[in-house]
Amino acid sequence: MKNDIVRCTCVDMSVDGQGIARSKDLVVFVKGMIKGEEADVKIIAEKKNYCFGIIDKLIKASPYRIESACKISYKCGGCDYRYIDYNYQLELKKEVLINTFKGYKVNDIIPDDNPYYYRNKVQIPVSDHKMGFYRKFSNDIVEFDDCLIESKIANSIIADLKKILIERKLDNNIRHILIKHAQGTNEVMIGFIVRTFDIDLSEVTDILVDKYPEIKSVIMNLNDQKTNVILGKEERLLYGRDHIFDIYDGIRVKLSLKSFYQVNHRQMLKLYGKIKELAQPKENDEILDLYCGIGTISLYMARYSGKVMGVEIVKEAVDNAKDNAEMNNLNNTEFILADASKNMDEYIKGKDIVIVDPPRKGISKELISSFIENRTPKIVYVSCNPATLARDLDLLKEEYDISEIHPVDMFPFTVHVENVCLLTHKV
Ligand SMILES: C[S@@+](CC[C@H](N)C(=O)[O-])C[C@H]1O[C@@H](n2cnc3c(N)ncnc32)[C@H](O)[C@@H]1O
Repeated sequence: MKNDIVRCTCVDMSVDGQGIARSKDLVVFVKGMIKGEEADVKIIAEKKNYCFGIIDKLIKASPYRIESACKISYKCGGCDYRYIDYNYQLELKKEVLINTFKGYKVNDIIPDDNPYYYRNKVQIPVSDHKMGFYRKFSNDIVEFDDCLIESKIANSIIADLKKILIERKLDNNIRHILIKHAQGTNEVMIGFIVRTFDIDLSEVTDILVDKYPEIKSVIMNLNDQKTNVILGKEERLLYGRDHIFDIYDGIRVKLSLKSFYQVNHRQMLKLYGKIKELAQPKENDEILDLYCGIGTISLYMARYSGKVMGVEIVKEAVDNAKDNAEMNNLNNTEFILADASKNMDEYIKGKDIVIVDPPRKGISKELISSFIENRTPKIVYVSCNPATLARDLDLLKEEYDISEIHPVDMFPFTVHVENVCLLTHKV
């Protein structure tokens, strides 16, 4: 079977963006194939009930297939949908959401009106004298000149660093380069994640800072562990501040290297607008913002409510959140360093609205029980993983009425999509 070529028709798309193709009883997952297409597919791997394949010859192309504007899109693991018309990407994503959220109404995805160069954070692995993105399902590095979803200044800095670090033989001691570009202020932070602090990056820093006045922070972060986690604990400041500033909806915020920040600034505003619209906070409402990061949702909501408490597990993010509240004179806020998956009862008690925005694994059963026991009147659930959101909604649906699902396209050209919905306690 392996290496055989079979004529297939693509009948659907998988959750991870592969075409699901059929040839009689055979099911083949084909990267780069679009629903409705017919192709001769070469089988590259066999499993018990299905195979993986690659397009050998496209027989009938989808009317939504577009020429990829990216030179490395067929090798790089970043943009699953680079070869699909943007509006059709949204349709395909919505179909996957409808299949995931069975029993709930899924609204149209709120699109990004300019879905290019949107990412404000880029993490580039460095290995074998190469810097780039990982090839999908592998540790091979695919180099790039112009990534169409990363910010333009990050592309330019990476292109310079490729030359500067390799010429000076400094790349061996660097594991990753992390660049943050705050699009509201145009400030840039560069993080060199190094194997040892015994590396002199002062000349490299000088060259970059001279060329890019936007750079306000250069940090070395030590990661000498055998791990897939990118950032280590210890940091040394090489230039400027240990943070950069951004502005969203008139709110000025500090971001540090380790703090989470939504990657698409334009869409973040639409997402936060939707959260407010669903929560409908009243002047005296008390809100709990779980998984609050640097407090961006808390501060946004503090302007429309009585009091907001944010909970977050990363210390640097909590420190940023406290500074951000002070900088914006939003004194009706409080931020707590804690694990939001456990012992949240005392914070949940008495709150009118709880907002949760957890990582991909969703929320814990303990947190779900706390909501139910405390009869929290409104929960706004923000999620970057439809599968765990659907799982958690099913655990809450006996006690809560669940609104429509509102998807926001935070990650154009990838399969990912953010979703938000309101849960109202049944009285
Ligand atoms: C998807 S981000 C949301 C951040 C924020 N709401 C925003 O809009 O920028 C999830 C956040 O949860 C934090 N986090 C992860 N696990 C956590 C836990 N067990 N308890 C509290 N916070 C956690 C992460 O550090 C990250 O800041």
